[in-house]
Amino acid sequence: MRLGRRYGMKVWFGIVLFVLSSSVLAQAKDYWADLSDVELFEMVCNTCHSTALPKQQRLNREHWEWVISDMINDQGCNFLPDKHMQRILDYLVENYGPNRDAGRSKY
Ligand code: HEC
Repeated sequence: MRLGRRYGMKVWFGIVLFVLSSSVLAQAKDYWADLSDVELFEMVCNTCHSTALPKQQRLNREHWEWVISDMINDQGCNFLPDKHMQRILDYLVENYGPNRDAGRSKY
């Protein structure tokens, strides 16, 4: 059996489309990377509750790590790739560490 010429063209077109679209998907953009650390924090940690929750805390790195792993493992904040979650952790340690003036309004 010989495929009709038109049908054969359709198959080729389908293959070309498939190859093109899969290479586009393979290069899927890492949208999180476009956000600054503070934007990332404001967006991600605002998903389920106000960022007032973390902002009213002054914690050292160890305790922020605990909060973050609690959010990831127990509260369902598991959609962010690790390397970006690490940026949020560094941001929190830097800006909401124990030496920061707890009375200063950041809201
Ligand atoms: C998927 C939902 C979700 C996301 C996203 C989320 N949280 Fe939470 N978070 C919760 C829930 C639910 C609670 C309340 C837990 C409780 O009552 O013990 C909470 C509570 C908190 C608290 C209060 C202290 C505590 O442990 O109860 C802090 C601080 C906190 N979150 C920080 C963060 C930070 C920082 C981020 C961003 C990395 C974040 N959260 C993202 C669900 C989320």
